[in-house]
Amino acid sequence: MQAKDLVQLADQFGSPLYVYDAAKIQSQYNRLTKAFSKVEKLRINYAMKALSNVAILELLRECGSCLDAVSIQEVQLGLHAGYAPDQIFFTPNGVSLEEIEEVSALGVQINIDNLSILEQFGTKYPNVPVCIRINPHVMAGGNANISVGHIDSKFGISVHQLPHLLRIVENTKMHIVGIHMHTGSDILDIEVFLYAAEILFDTAKNFKNLEFLDFGSGFKVPYKKDDIETDIDELGKKLSKRFNAFCAEYGKDLTLIFEPGKFLVSEAGYFLAKVNVIKQTTSTVFAGIDSGFNHLIRPMFYGSQHHIENISHPGGKERFYSVVGYICETDTFANNRRISEINEGDILCFRNAGAYCFSMSSNYNSRYKPAEVLWLNGQGHLIRARETFEDLLKNQIPLPVETATV
Ligand SMILES: Cc1ncc(COP(=O)(O)O)c(C=O)c1O
Repeated sequence: MQAKDLVQLADQFGSPLYVYDAAKIQSQYNRLTKAFSKVEKLRINYAMKALSNVAILELLRECGSCLDAVSIQEVQLGLHAGYAPDQIFFTPNGVSLEEIEEVSALGVQINIDNLSILEQFGTKYPNVPVCIRINPHVMAGGNANISVGHIDSKFGISVHQLPHLLRIVENTKMHIVGIHMHTGSDILDIEVFLYAAEILFDTAKNFKNLEFLDFGSGFKVPYKKDDIETDIDELGKKLSKRFNAFCAEYGKDLTLIFEPGKFLVSEAGYFLAKVNVIKQTTSTVFAGIDSGFNHLIRPMFYGSQHHIENISHPGGKERFYSVVGYICETDTFANNRRISEINEGDILCFRNAGAYCFSMSSNYNSRYKPAEVLWLNGQGHLIRARETFEDLLKNQIPLPVETATV
């Protein structure tokens, strides 16, 4: 996509606006499957929490992707987008037994990440195939909030609890078909994946009827030009070889699964916001935009650095700006960034706005959620309308007149 296309879309659909480039999503999907082409059975479960617009789910379904869902509502969205139940995995954390039962009854593969639910589910449904999420306790990931391997992490069943896990499986006679792990997000070093994979293989040896091994995700994507990223081709080469050797040892061609979110959609996304005001203080020049952490929370939530360009005046002289939102708390997107000179009314473009951006947005400050557009074959398609005042009132119930509080 080019800057002029984005400016035109902001003009046509207004701001703030999320735009997703379909071709980029498709090429990332193909890049990943190509890197693992030496594996006999490969399955990609798109981690739909990253971006769950139905048009995006449909696009990825057409690419050949399956889904990773973390709530019954995500499962329902996946079914709505045309995925068959057996194309969806359910990898929740800390949800109730009832929700797991409900999802399982739909024919979706469930993944259990704690011993309590494992024992209860196995006792009630010994014949339902179950996947187990282990925690290999590999410290990795870009930020404490997205690092899931530490000893205090709430995710997965600790590998140190393997004896108890095996006891539950033996006692309930439940049917374990897969082992899963997810080491964290933004993992650069492929040795980390390979090391964690060894722990997965060691665990897998204890189960005789496996059908798949799920290596989760966590690939680091570039956030600006020449930024570092996980070397997918190298990982593909090394992990495929090791995986194939494990399958030979195990005596069966297992399916290798990944469940990427960011890798598939992060770079495809652009967030466009208009500059409302340029405010010069004694120390800083602020560019205040018509959005805030209600629409893009990642910089405030876990310090993510989204590259920002002034697409209204791309080639201008660069000045230092702090880009801030209109929310009534500190709401900083960037501090002292060099950006092409900004005038009020210019459109700023935030890169890497495909993953965990719209899907984490809220109505805080009673603002409307932005519209979403899919750029497909050189055309912008509105895939979610901007909210309206009716959306803010939807589900609110006025008190009956006679119970008026004053
Ligand atoms: C269990 C699980 N799988 C997959 C993902 C997707 O990770 P990423 O977006 O880094 O690819 C996450 C992210 O939170 C996750 O928790």
